[in-house]
Amino acid sequence: MAGEVRWGILSTARIGRALVRGIGLSPNGRVQAVASRQLTRAREFAKELGIPRSFGSYEELIHSGEIDVIYNPLPNSMHAEWTIKALEAGLPVLCEKPIAVDAAQAREMASAARRAGLPLAEAFMYRFHPVYDRILETLAEGAIGDVVSIHSAFCFRLPERAGNIRTSAELCGGALMDVGCYCVNVSRRIAGCGPVRAAAFARATTVDDTFVGLLEFPNGILASFECSIESHGKSGLAIRGTTGAITLDNPWFPGEEFAQFVLCRGDAREAVTVPGANCYRLEVEAFAQTCRTHVPLRWLPEDSVANMAVLDALRKAATEHAAIEVERP
Ligand SMILES: NC(=O)c1ccc[n+]([C@@H]2O[C@H](COP(=O)([O-])OP(=O)(O)OC[C@H]3O[C@@H](n4cnc5c(N)ncnc54)[C@H](OP(=O)(O)O)[C@@H]3O)[C@@H](O)[C@H]2O)c1
Repeated sequence: MAGEVRWGILSTARIGRALVRGIGLSPNGRVQAVASRQLTRAREFAKELGIPRSFGSYEELIHSGEIDVIYNPLPNSMHAEWTIKALEAGLPVLCEKPIAVDAAQAREMASAARRAGLPLAEAFMYRFHPVYDRILETLAEGAIGDVVSIHSAFCFRLPERAGNIRTSAELCGGALMDVGCYCVNVSRRIAGCGPVRAAAFARATTVDDTFVGLLEFPNGILASFECSIESHGKSGLAIRGTTGAITLDNPWFPGEEFAQFVLCRGDAREAVTVPGANCYRLEVEAFAQTCRTHVPLRWLPEDSVANMAVLDALRKAATEHAAIEVERP
């Protein structure tokens, strides 16, 4: 795959706009086509965002021969079906988070990518922000001693529940799937391994509207998180060590202009500033680079399977009111 990668977007999902902007900023890709269940909707979306081609079904886009890669922002319950269809049609896929409904489905997607010999990545855009490399370097230097605990939060209140994919059990919505998956992902990354046990509580209506989880890692690190689609906005990440702590107020959108975290060493407190970045741009640029040059992805589908296994254990823990062993990938 030489030159600019031609992106095709499955659906007129709201998040597609952020990706279109990111692709527009990237040097190695352009958005070539969008598909919708309704052609008129695809056409309107294409016109608004300057996309050359539109299709009236996802199938047509996949088999159009006019695109090189697929971006899949369908509702969670449809990620696996359409990702596997695209891979089988010879297209690499950047699939929205959470990659699947559970670890078993994520494993099927990883196998489909392996069979096709094509890249598959989960669109956790936040992890591309340079602030995380800086935080990990700071931890590796021993700036806060040994890490003891990690706390993260991703809470917001849906302005309108009716018709939102996040309130649908059928489409696999809910707070854990929608935003708790970020908290699990960042906890695993900072702990440097997968948790062995999970405990959790949820407030539920049609789906879990608020979810609070606890994770125990084999290296002794403990993580806790809160996520919600019904409560007043709150985001944050706090990493506590034996001699200090790191806090990041905006862990999921760390800043396009610059990002800043607070490093406490004993009683000394320092604001560490890191250059800003558009995470969507970095994500699509890295994916397109892998498609063109075969440089390995930074996070492989096996990492997505491992993340889903933790979500599975958390869901079971909340249902059974018990601590649950996390299935080893
Ligand atoms: N990484 C991020 O920053 C981020 C942010 C937000 C969301 N997301 C993820 O992106 C995905 C989409 O989220 P969103 O908020 O953008 O969703 P959305 O606006 O509701 O879009 C979902 C799209 O899926 C299509 N669709 C197909 N079958 C559907 C059905 N039965 N019900 C509803 N829609 C259906 C629709 O497009 P057509 O009618 O055009 O076919 C719809 O526009 C989710 O997996 C979510 O977790 C990621």
